[in-house]
Amino acid sequence: MSTAAPVDSVRVRAPGKINVYLGVGGRHDDGYHALATVFQAVSLYEDVIARHADDFSITVSGLEDPSTVPLDDRNLAMRAAKLLATAAEYDGGVALEIRKSVPVAGGMGGGSADAAAALVACDALWGTGFSTARLHELAARLGADVPFALHGGTAVGTGRGDQLSPALARGRFDWVLVQSDGGLSTPVVYARLDALRDDEGALADDPPLSLEVPAPVLQALRSGDPELLSESIYNDLQEAALYERPDLENVILQGIHAGALQGIVSGSGPTVALLCAGPEDAHDVQSAMRAHGLETLHVHGPVAGARIIS
Ligand code: C5P
Repeated sequence: MSTAAPVDSVRVRAPGKINVYLGVGGRHDDGYHALATVFQAVSLYEDVIARHADDFSITVSGLEDPSTVPLDDRNLAMRAAKLLATAAEYDGGVALEIRKSVPVAGGMGGGSADAAAALVACDALWGTGFSTARLHELAARLGADVPFALHGGTAVGTGRGDQLSPALARGRFDWVLVQSDGGLSTPVVYARLDALRDDEGALADDPPLSLEVPAPVLQALRSGDPELLSESIYNDLQEAALYERPDLENVILQGIHAGALQGIVSGSGPTVALLCAGPEDAHDVQSAMRAHGLETLHVHGPVAGARIIS
């Protein structure tokens, strides 16, 4: 138990992410795919405020359509709070308030950020005092992307994406995010990838169950040179996301035409991430995309993982 003075509320901020590189291997028996990915946390945040309560409850603000986020046990933040309570043998509850900025079902890990923030917030509120390693272990049980939302920065993820090792990244990378109406379901996109691979025929080799991030991606991140990085950003889920949402291909092309170095579907989509040479270029790309009637955000990475802000 921590010796810190008890507090009434704790506010934690956790970032959304872009998969700068996402290699998807074969499917394990548990349905999860082998991954080799590079996550980058970007300056688009979820805030979770935790307050003492007898029961568990959630409220969410910042949504155009509140029906898109469940407020019960389907919500990953609710599951995070209950998992921590069980692990810590805490018999009270918590009232969680989630202030969303990361697009819902956008392929940017918004729900995972909520879960990571809820873990850190409840740990501080309840004085649980779990180690970072213990919080990571609980995070991995909640979802493959949750450990990264705790970690932040730039990191390589292997296994299901939950086994993290830090990646060196110099400087900052500027991204213009193009949001889409209607999210894409991550399981649906993975299932589409499997179907597309099956269609490619029995002659193709089975996808590997262990894979690595190619060296040029890591070298480009270390160099801090966006132009170099633009040559190696890649997403194995992109083909499947474009199958579900063919219009996204045009968004990527429009982004490149507007001056982005390269564009990629973020995670399972439908958010498109356009890598730009710097803040001014990002500004120009954003204006051009807005002129096409598209909703855009300018973010940069890497930024810190889940942390207490008050
Ligand atoms: O772990 P998380 O809940 O974020 O994963 C959502 C879904 O994405 C899983 O149910 C699975 O369909 C798919 N997934 C996968 N392989 C991974 C990570 C996620 O197939 N390594």
